[in-house]
Amino acid sequence: MADVKLNDRLQAYGSEVAKIVRAVSDATDEVFTELPHRRWKEATKNIYGETQEALDVWTNQIFLKRMQETGCVKAYISEELGEPWINPDDTGGYTVTIDPLDGSSNIESNNCFGTIVGIHKEKDLLAEGRKQVLAFYNLYGPITTLVTADGKHACEYVKHRKGSSDYWLWKEGLKLSDPGKLMGLGGSPNKWTPAVKDFVDYMTTLKLKVRYGGAFVGDINQILFYGGCFMYPEMTDKPQGKLRLVIECNPMAYIISTAGGYASNGVSAILDAKPKEYDERTPVYIGSTSVVRKFEEIRAKYK
Ligand code: AHG
Ligand code: MN
Ligand code: MN
Repeated sequence: MADVKLNDRLQAYGSEVAKIVRAVSDATDEVFTELPHRRWKEATKNIYGETQEALDVWTNQIFLKRMQETGCVKAYISEELGEPWINPDDTGGYTVTIDPLDGSSNIESNNCFGTIVGIHKEKDLLAEGRKQVLAFYNLYGPITTLVTADGKHACEYVKHRKGSSDYWLWKEGLKLSDPGKLMGLGGSPNKWTPAVKDFVDYMTTLKLKVRYGGAFVGDINQILFYGGCFMYPEMTDKPQGKLRLVIECNPMAYIISTAGGYASNGVSAILDAKPKEYDERTPVYIGSTSVVRKFEEIRAKYK
């Protein structure tokens, strides 16, 4: 494959979307350099009542400032802000949803984490995930990668290849294998509902291997490359599960669906769910279509 830079490919989406992606991708060196230092917890909590890691707050500030500077963002919906930032100049054609640092609990244990972004241009800030125009995530693992999806093509870019500070295209036209190889099992097994337990038994018959990394961004990346299903499911004490519909599940559902997979809330496609609140949670079963669809079938028998 001829050497293609991220910025070359971004031009296809127009200068505004390209600037929005670059607001994050151009900051990854600054973020990566900060990772070894900013490892304390703040005294503050986010809207979910979760103690904020210093990196949560800091990365949100970095990305918000860069998004404001693009002049293309009319609203910035972030896990770390109580209410969205709304552009006072009423300029900018796009709404950005962002989890500035996904996998905060992995900071302490030096496991992977990253940034999840969704972009749409609907009048309604709480638009269904299917209306996104682009979704992407940055993954800080042993190397820094960036995966984008536009509804037709899912691509992976790698930072610092060939010694340059650019992101270079590594894989394009990513497609999930089905049924794939992995199952990522979130939540506490003693809280899984009977339907979820039956689903795990089913996935076991498929000989899927368990892989769970504690960061949605890393767990999704494994499913993207190896196929199978990740779930953070309904639980007896938390029927809505843990993950957030708008800032985590919609962008990832868009990416996995672009790669030929499927994301469900247990009943229907996450991408068709109409968000009512910025901070609402949803159960999520995401990955190879045949496997995820099987959970909907199993769950329907219990309702
Ligand atoms: P965040 O760090 O943005 O709050 O997200 C953490 C989420 C998600 O990344 C991951 O799949 C899940 O929480 C892990 O939850 P547990 O710690 O309960 O495993
Ligand atoms: Mn997250
Ligand atoms: Mn987060």
